[in-house]
Amino acid sequence: MGVVITPLQTVEYIISRLGEIKEDQKILDPCVGPGIFVKKLLESGISKNQIITYDINSQFERVIKQLGVYFKEQDTLLALYPDSYNEFDFIVGNPPYLNKASTYVRTKKAKLRKIYGKINAHETYAMFIVNSIWRLKEGGKLGFITSDSFLTLSTHKKLRKFILNSCKINEILLAPKNLFSNQKVSTSPVIIILTKCSGLKNKKIREKNIMRIIPRINDEDEYQSPSHVNKIKQIRYYSLPFNIFYADVDEKVIELFEKAPKLEKYLMGFIGMHTHNNKKFIAAIDDTELAEVFNKRNMKMHDSKNNFKIIKRSDLENNKWKPYLKRGGADQYYRPIMEALDWSEESRKIYDIPKNAPFEQEGIVISGISSRLAARYMPRGCYWDSNKAIGFIIKNKLISIEYMLGLLNSSLYNYLAKGIINNTSSIQISGIHAIPFIEPPKEIKKKVENLVDNIIKSKEKNLEYDYTKEQKAIDNTIFEFYTNEFNLPNNLKKELDDKYSIYRN
Ligand SMILES: C[S@@+](CC[C@H](N)C(=O)[O-])C[C@H]1O[C@@H](n2cnc3c(N)ncnc32)[C@H](O)[C@@H]1O
Repeated sequence: MGVVITPLQTVEYIISRLGEIKEDQKILDPCVGPGIFVKKLLESGISKNQIITYDINSQFERVIKQLGVYFKEQDTLLALYPDSYNEFDFIVGNPPYLNKASTYVRTKKAKLRKIYGKINAHETYAMFIVNSIWRLKEGGKLGFITSDSFLTLSTHKKLRKFILNSCKINEILLAPKNLFSNQKVSTSPVIIILTKCSGLKNKKIREKNIMRIIPRINDEDEYQSPSHVNKIKQIRYYSLPFNIFYADVDEKVIELFEKAPKLEKYLMGFIGMHTHNNKKFIAAIDDTELAEVFNKRNMKMHDSKNNFKIIKRSDLENNKWKPYLKRGGADQYYRPIMEALDWSEESRKIYDIPKNAPFEQEGIVISGISSRLAARYMPRGCYWDSNKAIGFIIKNKLISIEYMLGLLNSSLYNYLAKGIINNTSSIQISGIHAIPFIEPPKEIKKKVENLVDNIIKSKEKNLEYDYTKEQKAIDNTIFEFYTNEFNLPNNLKKELDDKYSIYRN
């Protein structure tokens, strides 16, 4: 049931951030475990009868009762009655981190969905945040240590909205990565301190609230005087796409997101199709490395009926096969088409082909799964799969495919897409659409186009072509251009070179 013990200094710090606890105020630990928060609260002079604890596991009842504190065995997430709302002055703890694959979430799915479905019914820690905000009185405070994934993942957008609409965020502190590593827990943790301040009438108060945002610290000793503290008005958490709770993004970059038009005005992505049986309907093209892999596998096969299909490149011309894109990865600018889609009439009947997607048009393919933002030229005639490769079409005639490729593959855009919007390996269409875009003046456009043209031609001749020199020139040109428009800080360029460029160490 996700029992993990919170280290002492962390418990002390969370309690210290709650502010004054008066004698008549009530504090809840909703998932108390062996009671580390309770012990620290008692040590700090809080009286036993102010503390209330719950845990799903009755095993903890004895130790908590020995401390003289109230304990109730219950599933805190499911035990919600009208009188459990607005009940507590403080809620502290370390909620369990069980995801949707866990036995608990799977078996309780229907019930959890009924209560939390509109916000998030996948991870227990997210549901504990919601549950505890409901249990807090207006003006009551919450102090939790949880996984930090809800801060940025687009799947937690509704949770962030819920927090923004019901609380003042007092503090977000990215706690040391290794905090729980001696307990074999690898999620990177965050401490959040919230004050309940809900309703439309408090909207302005929430928006004006100044949050203390503390980027990742490396050691518990840094809690009291961290080297960086960003003070940000809560309204700014509405600026980034998906209401991302960022910790360390420069003001000027936020301004870029707030003021520049969105990329979707210029570039539109479309979800691809399903064959329902890729092995049956997708073939490798004979001059590619994929064909070599298929050949080797086929040699080991006993029954040739099950062979992987390989076709000649010239077969793409007779309309029985269509070029197909279904691969992610970090390749940029150009990659030869390696796969083909069976286009016979009877096969086509089986496919799910979205009607609105402009298949067969010339455009750009972006890897949906990749460690970096990777965009390549998409020739006319292609179809694409559902998430690993995403087809995009340019919407504005003033912008060329070459310019867009240079921009998307630049270190600045890799940072905007992967460093800010989504720091996992997947990239969604909505994420790409939300990136800012500034229309380039002629000379910048021309310069980038020439460099990109050269990269594509060279890669067509030699796939291993090293385009570092051209890429550096593109990265510098784009950064300078955006800096002139939005005053991006100089130290950002160093971060881009070090962390987001293809020539990083
Ligand atoms: C991460 S541990 C925290 C223990 C302790 N509070 C600490 O910080 O050291 C999570 C606790 O949540 C309890 N738990 C898990 N699911 C629960 C649920 N649905 N309702 C109540 N408690 C739950 C587990 O039994 C476990 O004791």
